Amino acid sequence: MTSPLPEAPQGPLPAIAISVEKLSAAYGGRTVLDEVTLQIPRGTSFALLGPNGAGKTTLLNILSTLRRPDGGSASVAGADVVRQQTLARRSLGVVFQDSSLDDRLSAWENLEFHGLVYGMAPKLRRERSAAVLALVELEDWRDDIVRSFSGGMRRRLEIARALLHEPQILFLDEPTVGLDAQTRLRIWRYLDEMRRERQLTVLTTTHYIEEVESADTVCIIDHGRIIAEGSPEVLKSRHGSRWLHVVPRDQAALDAIRAQRPDAQLLGQHGLALPADDGAMTDAFLTAFRDRLTEVRFQDPTLESVFLSLTGRQLRDRADGDRDAERAAGRRGGRR
Ligand SMILES: Nc1ncnc2c1ncn2[C@@H]1O[C@H](COP(=O)(O)OP(=O)(O)OP(=O)(O)O)[C@@H](O)[C@H]1O
Ligand SMILES: [Mg+2]
Repeated sequence: MTSPLPEAPQGPLPAIAISVEKLSAAYGGRTVLDEVTLQIPRGTSFALLGPNGAGKTTLLNILSTLRRPDGGSASVAGADVVRQQTLARRSLGVVFQDSSLDDRLSAWENLEFHGLVYGMAPKLRRERSAAVLALVELEDWRDDIVRSFSGGMRRRLEIARALLHEPQILFLDEPTVGLDAQTRLRIWRYLDEMRRERQLTVLTTTHYIEEVESADTVCIIDHGRIIAEGSPEVLKSRHGSRWLHVVPRDQAALDAIRAQRPDAQLLGQHGLALPADDGAMTDAFLTAFRDRLTEVRFQDPTLESVFLSLTGRQLRDRADGDRDAERAAGRRGGRR
């Protein structure tokens, strides 16, 4: 058994929870993190957005002391992630992208084991285990073997486990993929509450754009480099595009618009979306086609459009996650 981890340092907590300075990482000579620099204030939520392979998990692995950086430095809650690993780990709760539960143990035993590793006293361990199981609504399954859990149930248990030792900082690598919308919402509400009440700092990677919308800061990473950082509002106003959504009256109108505006994109079966950042061009279009449209609506910039305009790519197809959620929900429903 690992010896108990030391207590968190006494005295006021640092105002900066996570500090990353010119951090680099490479695999076989290929750079996957390229001088990443970040400062994350305590008690804030920070979302890391990037396409597959951007380097998000590599960054989280370095911050959680699982991988050494190849250049630069980083600290969490004031502890250097290379020189003060044990201290750094004490302040962190981590939900990994891939499940790290012990399949052969029950939900309760998984929590017990984690509490033991963190040197928690038996009474506190029991109290906290019950509290976090209730949070993710797994009380009825506390003695069930994890192997029998659905993907969504496993995710909920992992989040519970990460919160067991009351960390100052929580890392969540794609934590809600495969969860139904209701569970996602409940988890984010609770995390927000913890953030406000206990100044928990939350660093998350997610492909669910609506989860990123509520983050204090969004950081877009591509090919191991930070390409934009700011509040969702700032990013949208700087990099987002405004679109005009229209529904042409008939096929002839649709064809005529597409002939005149090759930049128009099909929207569903009958609609078209046109870039609308150029006001004069949009006015000219509306004057010419107003009588041949049945619907006209402006779409303000979204984070999807920010992501697209900065990376030239769309976020991973989210249908997979939603299908997982349906499967998980079906299995849960079957057991209740
Ligand atoms: N152990 C490894 N050995 C070799 N290459 C690796 C290893 N781990 C990651 N990589 C590579 O490093 C790059 C960044 O990977 P990483 O897992 O950090 O990306 P990510 O942004 O988390 O992607 P995803 O959204 O798919 O989870 C990828 O090109 C990946 O193939
Ligand atoms: Mg990843």
